[in-house]
Amino acid sequence: MIVGSISENKDLENRVALTPDIIKKYKSLGLEVNLEKDYASHLGINDKDYEKQGANILPSDEEVILNSNAILQMNIPNDNILSKLNEKQILIGVLNPYFNEKKLKEITSKNINCFSLELLPRITRAQSMDILSSQANLAGYKAVVDSFAYFQKAIPMMMTAAGTISAAKVLVVGAGVAGLQAIATAKRMGAIVYATDVRLASKEQVESLGGKFLTVEGSENLETEGGYAKETSEEFKVKQEELLKETLKKIDIIICTALIPGKKAPIIIKKDMIEVMQNGSVIYDLAASQGGNSELTKVNEIIDSNGVKIMGEANILNKLPVSASNLYSKNMFNFVNNLFNKEKKTFEINYEDEIIEKTIVK
Ligand code: NAI
Repeated sequence: MIVGSISENKDLENRVALTPDIIKKYKSLGLEVNLEKDYASHLGINDKDYEKQGANILPSDEEVILNSNAILQMNIPNDNILSKLNEKQILIGVLNPYFNEKKLKEITSKNINCFSLELLPRITRAQSMDILSSQANLAGYKAVVDSFAYFQKAIPMMMTAAGTISAAKVLVVGAGVAGLQAIATAKRMGAIVYATDVRLASKEQVESLGGKFLTVEGSENLETEGGYAKETSEEFKVKQEELLKETLKKIDIIICTALIPGKKAPIIIKKDMIEVMQNGSVIYDLAASQGGNSELTKVNEIIDSNGVKIMGEANILNKLPVSASNLYSKNMFNFVNNLFNKEKKTFEINYEDEIIEKTIVK
């Protein structure tokens, strides 16, 4: 059995699904690895680095597709590549099935099995495959580093002979994986950190990192069985707005991370709330590509609203692609390892396995 991976669309994606270190793990399972020429050269990783680990470098994407049983990607390949996939082949990646429903229906109808890794259940056994967590962790860290770079004051409290500089105040909206990493990073750099979430379980996690949790008064716990957030009621929204508006007067930097799976991101930081913020404040909206948590966010733009800078990118992970690829690559291997039957030396689609059943695109 052979796994293969082709170059991503480098205008949109810097990450790769397979880094050199992981090749030997595939080989030790008895799998061959095919990669397209210049697969990760944009990251300073040469074909030779892959060959040294035992990968085969093929001259074109078409040859990789024709000669591999399973295609391992970051994103869904383009239509031309999809049309070249054959019956019984397997495609694994972040396929975004809500958005790519039509394309995926076409290929699954040809008896091609597709697995979308963002559908992984949040169960203990799937933690090592959890691409949402690995990538969100890095995104939370990078959002803090980037927003601090735009903030024109120092972050930690400093007592000098010339006087005292007070610590910057950061608000993290949404305390899931990205939010908790943002809190930890901001704390390490000396900021005073506040956070809010609709899941009450996150209060303890925020506090354990030294953050101050802002509870929307009288709110019920809006957590689904899978650990995700539910949409909030109008009453909740009004109360959350009142609470945040008061807090924002003293906040220097907001990191937005609030998401609801399969839905547009909730708008939490409205225009009139931004108006109460101090000149020079920064909002980094990690939810930008899902519509944004701030009303003024525009993807890949830096908006200046009365001296408050609002920014958000389509893919912040493109700014630390090597770390992001390393973690994704390990997640991917752990998923493939679970799909591969070591005795029969073949890929086996066992619907009784919750990991397979939840990730297969039907
Ligand atoms: P996410 O990326 O879907 O959302 C980010 C955060 O935004 C969540 O904490 C969510 O509650 C919050 N949010 C949504 N709407 C909001 C609103 N209107 N106001 C304020 N906050 C709002 O979630 P993520 O980061 O993927 O984590 C979801 C859960 O899954 C967490 O409980 C996390 O601890 C859990 N988890 C469990 C794992 C496991 O294997 N057991 C692995 C990873 C995460």
